[in-house]
Amino acid sequence: ERVSLWGGRFAGGPADALAALSKSTHFDWRLARYDIAGSRAHARVLHRAGLLDEATLMAMLDGLERLDADVVAGIFVAAEDDEDVHTALERGLIERVGADVGGRLRAGRSRNDQIATLLRMYLRDHARVVAALVLDVVDALVAQADRHLGVAMPGRTHLQHAQPVLLSHHLLAHAWALLRDVDRLRDWDRRAAVSPYGSGALAGSSLGLNPEAVAADLGFAAAVDNSIDGTAARDFVAEFAFVAAMIAVDISRHAEEVILWATKEFGFVRLDDAYSTGSSIMPQKKNPDVAELARGKAGRLIGDLSGLLATLKGLPLAYNRDLQEDKEPVFDAVDTLEVLLPAFSGMVATMEFDTDRLESLAPQGFSLATDIAEWLVRSGVPFRIAHEVAGACVRACEERGIELWELSDAELSAISPALTPDVRRVLSVAGSLASRDAKGGTAPARVAEQLDAARTAAGTA
Ligand code: ARG
Repeated sequence: ERVSLWGGRFAGGPADALAALSKSTHFDWRLARYDIAGSRAHARVLHRAGLLDEATLMAMLDGLERLDADVVAGIFVAAEDDEDVHTALERGLIERVGADVGGRLRAGRSRNDQIATLLRMYLRDHARVVAALVLDVVDALVAQADRHLGVAMPGRTHLQHAQPVLLSHHLLAHAWALLRDVDRLRDWDRRAAVSPYGSGALAGSSLGLNPEAVAADLGFAAAVDNSIDGTAARDFVAEFAFVAAMIAVDISRHAEEVILWATKEFGFVRLDDAYSTGSSIMPQKKNPDVAELARGKAGRLIGDLSGLLATLKGLPLAYNRDLQEDKEPVFDAVDTLEVLLPAFSGMVATMEFDTDRLESLAPQGFSLATDIAEWLVRSGVPFRIAHEVAGACVRACEERGIELWELSDAELSAISPALTPDVRRVLSVAGSLASRDAKGGTAPARVAEQLDAARTAAGTA
């Protein structure tokens, strides 16, 4: 017969179907070492509260250490009948130190405060891993921006040619978004660094245990202020899932550009062979699978977040078993990012830009029209009129099938007497770029400063 943690009140063990439904060891096993760390800390506060004598504490800590080593070595694993990681590890401890010692550990704690604490510990560790991987993507972007300082490209809005920008400026735009995501992880950690251990099932413990001591032992900044909140709250999981989804979405927006840029029609980048795939039937194909998987995985991470929020939505306080459903979505989010980000940073680091093509396309599609309008404004023309005049230049060019800089002096002054030949100063990509020299603008000098700022931000993040 199946052994459970609640034998006393029950005439028989759970039905097979319930046991199968209830079981979580296939996904919560990754929390095993956190559970053991929690048990060590808990054993120490039981001892300090006078509930474990010195010899029992030593036996228990020794058993936990052996159990931990066996978990790491894969010698101790979940058995068929273990409901969850906590149940399995209690069994493992009792197998090692006997029921008289091992059976004392459960005093004053519940799987409800345990799981809430362990999940925070796990996510805090992985938040650091994910942040480092995001910074690798930032580093790859910064390196590409550095390598291509001075190269112009067509800047777009609505995917249409808008104004020339520096390639570095565009790449750094992605870097800043990712740096904010890293900042979000740091900020999340400040709220997640609070330990629910000691909350018990929901009401706290009567055994004189010190939650602050456990919290400090487990690397938390404090213990929770409210034991009901401690066991019921999962906003830390949802918020982590949001930041993970935001990272994936930011990566996906870049991925979408890479996919477009790698087409014959754009021809902006060539992907390294190591980061592209071929086709089983079309010998000429080179596909941007890393970028496509990045775009695809973003949908998956959004699903993880929405599933989690849907699970939480109707739950009364405090613990409900529904909360067991909180783990797989965030584990999936963590696993997905940890496999995606290294591939993505590798792809970005090895992309080769066709800088001649980028430069030659930069002024196309009348992308210097705004420069005409702003030049007119600088010579005193109201913007409303300047916009009209620049628009008329575009119409004239379209009719004649020429570019803005091909309009003759006579044609320019016929459109407006304000259009003196001096306007040609801004009718070049270099002139246009250099003129956008306020903070945040695409002027080469500003972008060089921005590159330093991004590098510093990545270094200190
Ligand atoms: N395995 C559960 C979870 O993941 C924790 C156990 C709490 N179970 C309970 N019946 N109180 O949330």
